[in-house]
Amino acid sequence: MTDLFTPYTLKSVTLRNRIAVPPMCQYMATDGEVNSWHLGHYQSLARGGAGLVIVEATGVVPEGRISPACLGLWNDQQAQGLAQVADLIRGEGSVPGIQIAHAGRKASANSPWEGDNHIAADDSRGWQPVGPSALAFGGDLTRVPDEMTSADIQQTTQDFVDAAMRARDAGFEWLELHFAHGYLAQSFFSPHSNQRTDEYGGDYAGRSRFLLETLRAVRQVWPETLPLTIRFGVIEYDGRDEETLVESIQLIRDFKTEGCDFVSVSVGFNTPTAEIPWGPAFLAPIAQRVKEAANIPVATAWGLGAPRLANKAVSSEQIDLAMIGRAHLENPYWPLHAARTLGKERPTWVLPAPYAHWLERYASVPDLPETVVS
Ligand SMILES: Cc1cc2nc3c(=O)[nH]c(=O)nc-3n(C[C@H](O)[C@H](O)[C@H](O)COP(=O)(O)O)c2cc1C
Repeated sequence: MTDLFTPYTLKSVTLRNRIAVPPMCQYMATDGEVNSWHLGHYQSLARGGAGLVIVEATGVVPEGRISPACLGLWNDQQAQGLAQVADLIRGEGSVPGIQIAHAGRKASANSPWEGDNHIAADDSRGWQPVGPSALAFGGDLTRVPDEMTSADIQQTTQDFVDAAMRARDAGFEWLELHFAHGYLAQSFFSPHSNQRTDEYGGDYAGRSRFLLETLRAVRQVWPETLPLTIRFGVIEYDGRDEETLVESIQLIRDFKTEGCDFVSVSVGFNTPTAEIPWGPAFLAPIAQRVKEAANIPVATAWGLGAPRLANKAVSSEQIDLAMIGRAHLENPYWPLHAARTLGKERPTWVLPAPYAHWLERYASVPDLPETVVS
């Protein structure tokens, strides 16, 4: 039976297990470039045993970053740093993935621990955000974006293509287009943020046009043998959920037709007033519905950090991969924790030999009780 530790093959890529680290912004970059923080962070996550490690939302242009401290992939120097990250992840036996992104109207924000709000318009660290319509997100993100022209939209598609080529050349083997979480692509699809009257707004065909054109263009440059995947928010929790889900499933069918191989099912986050039913594995049944209705492999995140829960979602075929985010920040060796919890044979061998051997060999030697140390 398939479980969390069953290898997973998509196109020419095989993951050693069904555990994936989803993209998680670190807000630690300067000028979009990788530094020692990112090298250590991503190597440690890969060393912990996950099958797939996806590098955080990486801006396709400077104005597409969520914050000034986000990674970018609009120049070759940034690509060189990211190539080092890809090598480190691969060297630890994980598959290196990357999420390429444009933050749209949510761009130009302070880091979460510095407010998570828009940088003031007169602060030179920030910039003017753009979006499908001149409508602010709301909440702490109050800046009104400039409405993009058709030429701006087509240029942004090209920016995704250029970043995809750099990601390919940097050695990433799994590309995730960030079409979720209220950022630019998701905001084109949502009537909350898109009130355009031209060919990029209005009905389903209009609101999906930017996403499908971008996917189609990226598919031309991303190798056919490697997974091209999309993170998409299929539901808003805004009171129109069934309608949004039905439209989202149609869009994911269209993604598949255009060459998308896999979808990471998430939430739209297009409105600050959404009432999200946070809870363990709350998106897993929705991911399963998408998987069955669109006939495409899926992952989801959000509250799968308890090993038995993640294992159940995978073994019952609700999802193909379990994205384990915060639990990996707490413990980069989460796969070892999962292997032990699930009673896997010789669990320490989820880790590399220099750790696995000793943890196994002295497994029966008890740790010193705290009382002896004090
Ligand atoms: C520190 C942090 C940064 C995040 N950055 C991103 C990101 O860059 N792109 C993205 O799609 N989701 C991002 N997310 C959402 C995660 O990918 C994931 O969906 C979320 O943490 C829920 O999974 P979990 O319950 O296993 O933590 C971030 C989450 C955290 C905690």
